[in-house]
Order: sequence, then structure tokens, then C-alpha cells
Amino acid sequence: MLNLQYYNISVMNLRINRKRYKVDVPEEMPILWVLRDVLDLTGTKYGCGKGLCGSCTVLLDDVAIRSCSTPVIAAEGKHITTIEGLESYNKKLQQSWEECSVPQCGFCQPGQLMNAAGMLKDNPNPNKEEIQERMYGNLCRCGTYKRIQDAIDLTINS
Ligand code: FES
Ligand code: FES
Repeated sequence: MLNLQYYNISVMNLRINRKRYKVDVPEEMPILWVLRDVLDLTGTKYGCGKGLCGSCTVLLDDVAIRSCSTPVIAAEGKHITTIEGLESYNKKLQQSWEECSVPQCGFCQPGQLMNAAGMLKDNPNPNKEEIQERMYGNLCRCGTYKRIQDAIDLTINS
């Protein structure tokens, strides 16, 4: 249980998936906790909790970040996009993922999709090496990397 007496509790104004939220939380609380435990946006997954696996990836002003290790104060004045907002952010990517049947167990997939969305925002036409370098940083225990590559290729070429 978090002992709140040691933390700065602030009213934070957040913008998430084009909606505004007001939350009363410690500034140090990881964005992931705010999303899942405070706002019930549970599409973003908790994996390692240490910034290593990428399952918690969301976009902060179009940049993919690991929400388990980013304090919510870093999101003040910025826009968070989560898997719940992907359809309006990059529908083509979501459709390609479905068309290529990328997920296996599915646990890592929200993070994979948001990582791919951030990559394509930054570089709309990445080559194979750039895709691999970026996407291999997000772990998939089911080994769906080939289908991830296919779905990104389909997004770029459709
Ligand atoms: Fe955030 Fe693993 S849960 S990187
Ligand atoms: Fe199972 Fe990636 S689909 S861990």
C-alpha cells in the first residue's frame, strides 16, 4: 500500500485520447498506475514495471514512452494516447494488425501497437532494419515479430 503522506499530491489535468481528466494523485505516480488504477483504462498492460519489456508503451505527444517508469507529472500539458485511442490515431495500423492476425496470447500487443504507432509518426516509411531495431525493443514471449513486421509493411504499403 502506497503511504501517501510522503508524496506531493496534486490535482493533475490530463488529456488522454482527446478527453480531459482531472486526477488527484502523487506527482511521482507512474502514468501506468493512473491509467489502470485511477481511470480504469486497463488496455495498457503491466509487465516488468521496470521499463524493460515495453508492454506498458503509450504515446506522450506522439512519442512512445514506457508508462510504468514515467511519472504522471511528465504528462502535464501533454497528450497521452493509449491503445483505447489507437483507432482514431492510426486506424490503418490497427486494421493491418487484424488482417495479419498478429496477436497470439495478446498480452504484449497494446504495447507493440503503440510502439509501432510512435515509430510511424516519427518515420512514416521505415525500412526493415529500422522496424526491427525499433520493434525488437518490445518483448513478445510468443514470438510474433514476423507478423508484426508484416502488419507494419501492410500499413506502409496500403
Ligand atoms: Fe513498463 Fe515493462 S511494464 S516496460
Ligand atoms: Fe503473447 Fe506477445 S503475443 S507475449
